[in-house]
Amino acid sequence: MSKHWSDILQELWLIDATLTPLSGEYDLNFLVTGDQPAILKVMGANTDAAVLDMQCAALQYLNDSEANLAVPNILRSCDGELYKKIKGPEGEMRLVWLQERCAGIDYANFQPKSLTLIEQVGDIVGRVDKTMQGFEHAALTRDFKWNLCTADWIEESIPTIENSVERSLITDIARQFSVIKPQLNSLPQQAIHNDVNDYNLLVQGSFDNPPTISGLIDLGDMCLGPRICNLAICAAYMVLDQEQPEWVLETLVKAYHAQNPLSVQELELLWPLLRMRLAVSLVNSSLMALENPDDAYVTISAQGARTFLQENTVDAQLLLVRLRLACGFGVCDSAQNVQQWLAQKRGSFAAILGTDLADAPLRSLSVEHSTEPKNPFALTAVEAENLGGAYCPEEGIWLGYYKEPRLVYTDSAFSNGPFKASNRRTVHIGVDAFGPVGLKVHAPLAAEVVLSQYRSANLDYGAMVILSHCTDSGDVFYTLYGHLDPKSTAHLKTGDSIEAGEVFAALGSMDGNGGWNPHLHFQLALTIQGMGLDWPGVADPDELALFEALCPNPAALMNLPDDKTVYQTIQKNEVLAQRQEKFADNLKLSYSDPVMFFRGWRHHLFDEWGRPFLDCYNNVPHVGHAHPRIQAVAADQLLRMNSNTRYLHPAQSRFASTILAKLPDHLEVCYFVNSGTEANELALRLARAHTGAKDMITPNHGYHGNTTGAIDISAYKFNAKGGIGQADWVQLVDVADEYSGTYQAPDPECAAKYAAQVDTAIKAIEQRGSKLAGFIAETFPSVGGQIIPPKGYLKSVYESVRAAGGICIADEVQTALGRLGEYYFAFEQQQVQPDIVVMGKPIGNGHPIGVLVTTKAIAASFAQGPEYFSTFGGSTLSCRIGNEVLDIVEDEGLMENARIMGEKLRLGLNELKQKHSLIGDVRGFGLFIGVELVLDRQSKEPATQVASYLKDRLRERRILLGTEGPADNILKIRPPLTIEENDVTMLLQVLDDTLTEAQCLMS
Ligand SMILES: Cc1ncc(COP(=O)(O)O)c(C=O)c1O
Repeated sequence: MSKHWSDILQELWLIDATLTPLSGEYDLNFLVTGDQPAILKVMGANTDAAVLDMQCAALQYLNDSEANLAVPNILRSCDGELYKKIKGPEGEMRLVWLQERCAGIDYANFQPKSLTLIEQVGDIVGRVDKTMQGFEHAALTRDFKWNLCTADWIEESIPTIENSVERSLITDIARQFSVIKPQLNSLPQQAIHNDVNDYNLLVQGSFDNPPTISGLIDLGDMCLGPRICNLAICAAYMVLDQEQPEWVLETLVKAYHAQNPLSVQELELLWPLLRMRLAVSLVNSSLMALENPDDAYVTISAQGARTFLQENTVDAQLLLVRLRLACGFGVCDSAQNVQQWLAQKRGSFAAILGTDLADAPLRSLSVEHSTEPKNPFALTAVEAENLGGAYCPEEGIWLGYYKEPRLVYTDSAFSNGPFKASNRRTVHIGVDAFGPVGLKVHAPLAAEVVLSQYRSANLDYGAMVILSHCTDSGDVFYTLYGHLDPKSTAHLKTGDSIEAGEVFAALGSMDGNGGWNPHLHFQLALTIQGMGLDWPGVADPDELALFEALCPNPAALMNLPDDKTVYQTIQKNEVLAQRQEKFADNLKLSYSDPVMFFRGWRHHLFDEWGRPFLDCYNNVPHVGHAHPRIQAVAADQLLRMNSNTRYLHPAQSRFASTILAKLPDHLEVCYFVNSGTEANELALRLARAHTGAKDMITPNHGYHGNTTGAIDISAYKFNAKGGIGQADWVQLVDVADEYSGTYQAPDPECAAKYAAQVDTAIKAIEQRGSKLAGFIAETFPSVGGQIIPPKGYLKSVYESVRAAGGICIADEVQTALGRLGEYYFAFEQQQVQPDIVVMGKPIGNGHPIGVLVTTKAIAASFAQGPEYFSTFGGSTLSCRIGNEVLDIVEDEGLMENARIMGEKLRLGLNELKQKHSLIGDVRGFGLFIGVELVLDRQSKEPATQVASYLKDRLRERRILLGTEGPADNILKIRPPLTIEENDVTMLLQVLDDTLTEAQCLMS
């Protein structure tokens, strides 16, 4: 059949090309590949020529406009026609036309559907609608099933829907539609696309070019209608499968409005029309299913609409407030007037606590300034009771800030997702006033009681009152008073009037105020639309613009200047500027948009807004960030004294005994230093002192520290751009990487071949008339790409090194202390006995500690030299902290947790490997894991851009993770050992999503 149409193409358009059939409901569409990429469209036999004519005219019209609207051009036939009427292979008459092919892939199949992309959709739909205002065509006036103005045809077909829940949902949507129909009919009509769905938008993008909308196609459903119908139809597709449909709608509408301003009346119709469009899709698919009972696809195709309608939690009223705000209308009509009036009247309101608060001090409960609560996932009753410190009569009432990010809201009700690192509400949108129990609360101005309620849940409001007020010109606004004494408010009933200054409540004690340190939570709202009588007192930092507009700073009602009560969150840009000014350029930050953290707990970190991040990167907080036991021993020792190894203290030998007990018997002597670097530097000295030789052998791309000596044995640094290059006393061997190294699995000789390189290196040392001092390697190379050398590798290497008189140094800075789950040290897996073991990073859990352990013989050789002393190495404080870390690993079963969680993670990663060809290799032990990303599994070409994309996107989705390896294409996963199943699930889910995105950006 393609032959028939390619002949037609040749005959009528003089184009010689190959045709590939595309899918289409009624029409035949062919992809034309050749010099001019195009789509040949052969319309269904029953197509109305007038409708095609309308489509062609509209495309012409849009392309003739100045607006660059991404709609395809029509390629006229050689006799200048837009379309031709010709005979099909069966003799039937068909309308045929040729369209330029827009670049890109369907929006439906594109990921990520980011808000930036949605913004572009809104922009283009707004511009198309605006341009189309001037388009006219007789065929536009048509009544068909997809005309949203007449969508109430579905009512009579609702009984065909089998599922009763869906039936009643659609009945409800249709009823709402009947309510808005008069409003809809009163709007001006114009030509609209009427089907901007996710298959009619094309997207083009790559890692280097941010995704853009490259095409808006298929005008086959055009009709006359209000433009809001067009936007609502588009919106109905944009919200599907989105975690935050409200943000999508807000973004879409805002971008549309910027191009083609909407009215409030139109905004009011968006949500009911969106739902109605999805209802039409469902009813249509149910009717089609009746007609084609064997075609499962008919029902499946409406699954997205079904799921969204049944499961979305969008609050229609709050959505409208969002949309109003996005379009610059304010949260309600009276918003601006009320705020101006409050500002004017500032100073004249009755004192809400019966006293002038002008000199009341403020205390911060912010993420930056407060350490309450200790565990940002669980505020304790004791902490709530003492929050911010006690009230003392001499100091008087103290205030808590408006717009202050706090970590005290730890109940699951404040979390907006299933994971601990999900979005969470942290920003206080009222002002607190801490005072004595029983302190009287006065109405700031005349009021009517809207609600007086007792909320008994722990850490809720306890007794709470909402009042309404009127400005002089009759605009209504509201105030809320929380944590009151239930007895003081028992008499209040909805509708009661209260005079300005009248006492209507008193501050409650812990028993009745939700369990808090006695205080008043005072909040203003310009409207209760979208909040009803259940106002959030705290907002998600990413939603602050909305809630700040709904609930502005109530300072004026307290007769205070706004800036007294508003919290100034530290500005990341200022901190960054200071940093850039005061430090060298090669002191690097992670991420082009850096993150700033103020608090941590176990394997989570919190930024300045209290946003939680899952830490899958930092191995230094081995037993978890802010571990209370570490904090306690540090504080305890600092209370006593902190000195050095020149004085006796049992903490030194206690720490030494604890660490030696974990090591093989031949390792008997400890050196305590301040870092991994210092320990490696010392290892070099020990090796040289013991052997009298200088030369070292080390694997390529290794890292052992940042001092002159340590850099010399760190190819990762000396070979890097601008590095100092290889010293003549250093011999490099390949990293024993079985996946993408010089020798690869399944070669059974991998280990032997890599080890043989050490023999070659020894010969090279001999040839230059020198002698081998030792071999140093990260037992499992980390910066080299989280490599697990083949079994037997180190055994052979150590044999060769010892035979040449060298000593064997195991750098276990990354791998020691139980991280590997199955092994306390990585050398155990390689079944070797090093002469020196170096530890660092995790052993101090953030406190700077390095440890070197060696044999008595090596220590004796070294002791021949001058006194060994490190001022801070082995300080009393360090020894106590180091010992505590080792004890916590035992006491909390963290090595076992590393084993279990590591196994789950690798299992999940291997499942992802089945799905995403970008994953070439998953390797590791316990919580030392590498995921190597490749463009092609055969060639193993490194997917460096993918790795960088994943790292950035994971950060956007609140997961910290690093990339490593010579080509920077290996995901490095090494979280604190406390990570839990919920976190593993989150990491796998986000990796799955972002790998799909990366694949889209590459296609
Ligand atoms: C394997 C290894 N050895 C040594 C060091 C140096 O440790 P530090 O930065 O504590 O001096 C590092 C640091 O990343 C390392 O990864």
